[in-house]
Amino acid sequence: MQTSGFTIHYLTTVDSTNNYAARPEIQPKLQHKAVIMTDHQTEGKGQYGNKWESVKGKNLLISIYLKPNLAVKDQFLLNCVAALAIKDTVSYFLSVSSSIKWPNDIFVNHAKIAGILIENSIFGSNINRSIIGIGININQTEFDTGSYNSFKLISNKENDINRVLEYLLFRFSIYYDQIDEPNSNLHKEFDSHLYGKDELRIFKSSEDTGFQAKITGTTVDGKLILSLENGEVRTFNHKEVFFS
Ligand code: BTN
Repeated sequence: MQTSGFTIHYLTTVDSTNNYAARPEIQPKLQHKAVIMTDHQTEGKGQYGNKWESVKGKNLLISIYLKPNLAVKDQFLLNCVAALAIKDTVSYFLSVSSSIKWPNDIFVNHAKIAGILIENSIFGSNINRSIIGIGININQTEFDTGSYNSFKLISNKENDINRVLEYLLFRFSIYYDQIDEPNSNLHKEFDSHLYGKDELRIFKSSEDTGFQAKITGTTVDGKLILSLENGEVRTFNHKEVFFS
């Protein structure tokens, strides 16, 4: 398998690949660009303290461990790298267009096909270590809750998880290298693929029961930028605004 400079650490089962990579006794064994991969998580984690459920052996479950040379103020770029790499992977294997539902879900046909959970550790004003957890629904076809999609639901066939990983790491390494480029388009490209961009939608926040606005992009630190009908522009952090 081509791993584009990443080292794969495979575990048959683990509580969560993100938790594993964060363990103090494991950390010294991990180098920059280590990938923890498993078939089965007993306590897979999603965003906002949610669980990430995945049928054993059916999906791609990884954590990419990085020691980036990155200022905290630029940490959203890691989000852009992961989301764009997944988006490209979905297009490559399935020939469908996908979009990035802010902050970091990948959607195909209004249903989630992949999620990202990034856990950074910070030292001073830099990112000391980043654990980028990625779950991509590959061969699972039934989901308990919500609106989910998978490679198999779209292609009607079993997909090789290792081939998906190989391509994902290839795209990830290309985008990751762009972080250091002075005029990198990473953020712009992320914005251009936002789910619902420039469409008038209903948003809900803790202060408002509902208001109409359009997504126009994201700020440098990853807040969602909404343009309201009255011309007002508002920005929101994760968890501060919801839309479907
Ligand atoms: C989300 O959309 O809520 C984020 C899902 C992230 C799931 C992946 S699976 C591999 C890694 N280990 C975890 O415990 N979570 C991430």
